[in-house]
Amino acid sequence: MKTVKVGLLGIGNVGSGTFQILSMNRNSIAEAAGKPVCVAGVLARNKNKKRDIDIDPDIISDDPDCILKSDEIDIVVEALGGIEPATTFMINAMKNGKHVVTANKAAVAANYDKLLKTASENGVQFKFEASVGGGIPILNAVSTVLRGNEFTEIMGIVNGTTNYILTKMTEEGLPYETALKSAQEKGFAEADPTADVEGIDVANKLTILMALAFGVYVKPEEIPTLGISRITEKDIAEARANGEKIKLIAHAKKENGKLQYSVKPMRLAENHPLAGVSNEFNAIFITGNAVGELMFYGRGAGPLPTGSAVVGDIIEISKTITY
Ligand SMILES: NC(=O)c1ccc[n+]([C@@H]2O[C@H](COP(=O)([O-])OP(=O)(O)OC[C@H]3O[C@@H](n4cnc5c(N)ncnc54)[C@H](OP(=O)(O)O)[C@@H]3O)[C@@H](O)[C@H]2O)c1
Repeated sequence: MKTVKVGLLGIGNVGSGTFQILSMNRNSIAEAAGKPVCVAGVLARNKNKKRDIDIDPDIISDDPDCILKSDEIDIVVEALGGIEPATTFMINAMKNGKHVVTANKAAVAANYDKLLKTASENGVQFKFEASVGGGIPILNAVSTVLRGNEFTEIMGIVNGTTNYILTKMTEEGLPYETALKSAQEKGFAEADPTADVEGIDVANKLTILMALAFGVYVKPEEIPTLGISRITEKDIAEARANGEKIKLIAHAKKENGKLQYSVKPMRLAENHPLAGVSNEFNAIFITGNAVGELMFYGRGAGPLPTGSAVVGDIIEISKTITY
């Protein structure tokens, strides 16, 4: 029986979570895919770095061509981060006949049309469930089982770092800087938190959500975007006095045929379903004209939750590999 061979570009949080799931759930994954799935190659910047996972050092390389040009690899998983060289690597993989799965919202949002077009021109599949909401299967849901709807509104808490900071400010009365420090200490925020706290990461995710739910591609930099770095304890207290909580919301709404969109802190009534989403959790609240209101809730980051979405994409592609 054919074994599907996966090449991992990156073995950091997402790459190692994906590797771990493919190993710990090997049998159930083979059953679901109809064939065994294994990791045959890994790209890292430093191939000699000590890793926390039990991985054969012989399959790690610092040469991207070992994966991109390998004859044996069927699916390339891009988990490097950043727009480049990730986009070029994905395009080269597709041109070499490989299916591509990615968790990289920055690269997908920046080069959405180009990546989809290259996949289509080369007869390969391109999947990116993990790029929005980590382990939450929102992209697959809007593209398949909810496709019979016309969507009218999406509201998402899609960045765990900022949600953690706002939760600490709301529940413990911490100032922004102290809450940010706590997020950094817990590993929820990067040393340079700009992309998270200024809403850039959320804008990337809204670009992808709008492309799938509304069929409209809006560049992330064209989305009016305001982060949380200017939120004060006074803002939080005022919202509380009004029975509201402040959340950083990716918002898109269709009104009179026109799509309005923004990323900004919003005051939500305490009984709004999104107001109860705390700490590093994510949730997407979506309204369809047939299904009504739906909420998807779960872990938006972390090696295993994100790896869960990556492996789901790998399985769906593996099912279709018949050679
Ligand atoms: N972390 C999450 O929970 C999460 C959730 C959803 C989506 N994502 C997305 O997933 C992607 C990966 O994130 P991550 O947190 O896994 O990143 P990470 O922990 O920093 O890992 C990045 C990996 O890529 C390798 N790498 C980076 N640039 C490279 C280059 N130019 N050549 C060769 N190897 C390179 C690194 O090699 P070394 O190990 O040798 O340094 C490392 O193994 C990002 O796009 C991120 O936005 C992450």
